Amino acid sequence: MAKRKKISLIGAGNIGGELANLAAQRELGDIVLFDIPSKADFAKGKALDLAQNGAILGYDVKITGSGDWKDCADSDVLIITAGIPRKPGESRDDLVGKNLPIIRDVANNAKAHCPNAFVIVISNPLDVMVYEFQKVSGFDPKKVVGMAGVLDSARFACFLAEAAGSSVKDVRPMVLGGHGDDMVPLLSFTTLNGVPIANFVPQDKLDAIIKRTRGGGGEIVKLMGTSAYYAPASASIVMAEAYLKDQKRLLAGAAHLTGQYGYQDMFLGVPVVIGGEGVEKIVELPLTDAEKAMLATSAASVQGVIDVAKKL
Ligand code: APR
Repeated sequence: MAKRKKISLIGAGNIGGELANLAAQRELGDIVLFDIPSKADFAKGKALDLAQNGAILGYDVKITGSGDWKDCADSDVLIITAGIPRKPGESRDDLVGKNLPIIRDVANNAKAHCPNAFVIVISNPLDVMVYEFQKVSGFDPKKVVGMAGVLDSARFACFLAEAAGSSVKDVRPMVLGGHGDDMVPLLSFTTLNGVPIANFVPQDKLDAIIKRTRGGGGEIVKLMGTSAYYAPASASIVMAEAYLKDQKRLLAGAAHLTGQYGYQDMFLGVPVVIGGEGVEKIVELPLTDAEKAMLATSAASVQGVIDVAKKL
């Protein structure tokens, strides 16, 4: 008899709670909501609330809270939000000193308890945290991906739909590069169901939307005093589902590059195919010279933070 899949959510805060909610409603598998021992009761309380929610909404999965890595043993998927979110005025890169020891702790525990999991990292600064996770855990790079491109693309799509006066369902967006203020929204690969977006939105508005997308996370931090959680959770659940159901979805994700787009030994947001083997393919798009230059700027920023992390 097929066993239920197991999904462990490392970090039971704002994103962790929404991840558990979505994974339960989609019945992706049994769920462990994990946090540090001092917050284990908080995780257990959230898990209990979500288990009781299943009696109303009718989902049939086991949800447990825990502060003990043994409860995460042999997970099929790990989604990592462990860390400290941004406060107003902070950049994602400002978090590197605080979140680096946390991701190293998580990577060591993942290696010990869940060596076969597919891992999705959400903690910021994203591209550096996913890099560090893979280095410390030694996981096959195909089994490690960073969540950012789906979220950044969703922000881009949301603003474009508003400007075009169209349904957001018809926007096919693509945002590459690091999860930072110099990410690369690709107009040449963004369409309304195949029709180039420039047919619907004038250039000055497109320029303003690109700027707003790049600062999209910061806009929410400024309003809420902490970082976003609904869309980041949904973006990661789509990636987890693509793996668990071998969907072969083409999504933007921070993947390990070995020469693609001209970059080596770094994680950077690129189009990937996610299926049952993990990151099964990295898709190389023919970029314009201007897009290549923007990607180079973004990659240089990510490399700069990796260099800082290497000294910490
Ligand atoms: N192991 C597990 N969990 C940890 C660890 C650790 N070593 N260290 C911290 N945590 C937990 C915290 O106790 C907290 O409950 O991570 C959780 C983070 O939750 P929130 O503070 O609510 O943050 P959240 O909004 O979920 O964002 C988490 O994702 O988008 C990024 O920038 C964001 O890096 C941040 C992360």
